[in-house]
Amino acid sequence: MTNETIETTTDATATASAAAESIVTGPAVAVTEPITAGSSDESAAPAVVPALQLDHVSYAYTKGGKKVLDDKNYAFRPGRVYAITGPSGAGKTTLLSLLSGLTVPTEGKVLYHGNDLAKTDRYRYRSHDIGVIFQSFNLLPALTVAENIILSMDASGKTFDRPKTEIAKELIDKVRLRPEYASERILHLSGGEQQRVAIARALSYDPTIVLADEPTGNLDLATQDDIMAIFKSLAHDEGKCVIIVTHSPEVAAQSDDVYQLARLRG
Ligand SMILES: Nc1ncnc2c1ncn2[C@@H]1O[C@H](COP(=O)(O)OP(=O)(O)OP(=O)(O)O)[C@@H](O)[C@H]1O
Ligand SMILES: [Mg+2]
Repeated sequence: MTNETIETTTDATATASAAAESIVTGPAVAVTEPITAGSSDESAAPAVVPALQLDHVSYAYTKGGKKVLDDKNYAFRPGRVYAITGPSGAGKTTLLSLLSGLTVPTEGKVLYHGNDLAKTDRYRYRSHDIGVIFQSFNLLPALTVAENIILSMDASGKTFDRPKTEIAKELIDKVRLRPEYASERILHLSGGEQQRVAIARALSYDPTIVLADEPTGNLDLATQDDIMAIFKSLAHDEGKCVIIVTHSPEVAAQSDDVYQLARLRG
């Protein structure tokens, strides 16, 4: 994929204008939706109903306080990989917590298949429909790989048509870990291996949306590429909507669409 990102300059960022916040391709015009470089996808993308959508979303942590996000209108469609980029403090994690239903916007709506997330059963949404991969993995180190995955399946309250151990084995294979890792304790795994387990765990109850905060943060480039290959396959082969917060230009370049946030000046 060849997203052509025009980086905002230091001066442009200082103005903190809305124009500095979106990805642009070709002519330097600000857009509220990312423009896709892939021509075949370009015509098909708008026809697909967004899995998630920000409808004039603003967010401030304190009532009447400084806005962290201001009037965002982003669409996230099934079958695509999205990168959310921007400097530290730009509101990327805040955006992810809005998309994951942990936080409700101060203004505007987060729409899940067109329905206002604030008015739906957000516990169900979080435990069934989305898989979240945290930067710090949040795995239980004393438990084995399979135990960590199965714990998450149990917590979802979903019913499964096959034994959970069998599903866990398939997921371990899917994230390209060898089968013997199933019985390995997390504390014996490298960072890249733990990241794969975190992905397997997020997929364990088959969510349609995958949200990841800096999933390749501490990984070398080869491992990062391998993790990105998994995310791309989830979107392109299985039709999931994958949304990745990242500082990595390589991850952004490999994504289908990029939303670039600028830090708002108070
Ligand atoms: N719980 C909170 N209460 C008040 N302000 C907060 C809270 N969490 C974050 N903020 C502020 O909101 C802004 C955006 O934070 P956020 O964590 O979303 O940024 P980020 O883009 O994820 O940054 P990073 O790249 O460093 O992870 C920052 O100015 C931060 O200080
Ligand atoms: Mg963050």
